[in-house]
Amino acid sequence: MSVVNFGSINLDFVYRVQALVRPGETVQSLSLERFAGGKGFNQSLALARAGAAVRHVGSVGEDGRWLVEMLETEGVDIRNVEVVPTPTGHAIIQVSERGENSIVVHGGANRELSNAQMERACADLGDRDWVLLQNETNASEFVFAEASKRGFRVILNPSPLDSSLLDLPLDRVDTFLINEVEGEALAGEDDPERVLVAMRKRFPTADIVLTLGDQGAAFSGRDGTAAYARAENVAVIDTTGAGDTFAGFYLAAVLAGANPQSALAAGCRAAAHCVSRPGAAPSIPLASDL
Ligand code: RIB
Repeated sequence: MSVVNFGSINLDFVYRVQALVRPGETVQSLSLERFAGGKGFNQSLALARAGAAVRHVGSVGEDGRWLVEMLETEGVDIRNVEVVPTPTGHAIIQVSERGENSIVVHGGANRELSNAQMERACADLGDRDWVLLQNETNASEFVFAEASKRGFRVILNPSPLDSSLLDLPLDRVDTFLINEVEGEALAGEDDPERVLVAMRKRFPTADIVLTLGDQGAAFSGRDGTAAYARAENVAVIDTTGAGDTFAGFYLAAVLAGANPQSALAAGCRAAAHCVSRPGAAPSIPLASDL
């Protein structure tokens, strides 16, 4: 069983600032660092580090070859990653002294996945493989159309959540991996319990996993199962990539047969490691770190 991840690969430019910049304000950054990142990249890396078999489907420019080599070194299957003439996608990330972040992504090569490339990736899918999707590439519409034809299982991390994603047949989703912001946008509720109730009503055939930052994570299963895991108490340096780390370790645990509560706990443990170190990809733990 593999996870086939249609996902972004980014260069992250991380600016440390005292506080996240407000509209109309100009602030001096305290430092600038460059890291490997992208929600897709981070989730593939987290899956591989957690011990799952993962195939990445994505695109980079010439400037991103090192990111593809990094995925391969980590054991991610890169047969469906292509190098295109457009520069690699990038993210401009502010991280405040409290470790909060705000992110602008520029799609670049992530928006250049070709139909032939995506068709090849779908043709490779085995019956028991899962397709993982975020919304930083141009693959979302294609993946939903293929899922309707072929009936494969889609795990959706709806980030960034925009109107084009909302127009897709989200009732095809097997598992939603959402945070509070996405939960509010999808469910029209801001209280976590109400988000889960509203999501359950709107998507009765999906499992819902809701991450709650320093409050942990909650699960509402299509079979009526509910589970919750506490976040670990750690000093927060940088929350960037915490959701991706959670996603990778949570899914790897489910693939390995864990029940929802243990899988949530595995995700929370890994996310705690991630937030206590700088950067997205560099702060994803190895299974042995946990
Ligand atoms: O989730 C964190 C990621 O979001 C960063 O690595 C950045 O590249 C953006 O995709």
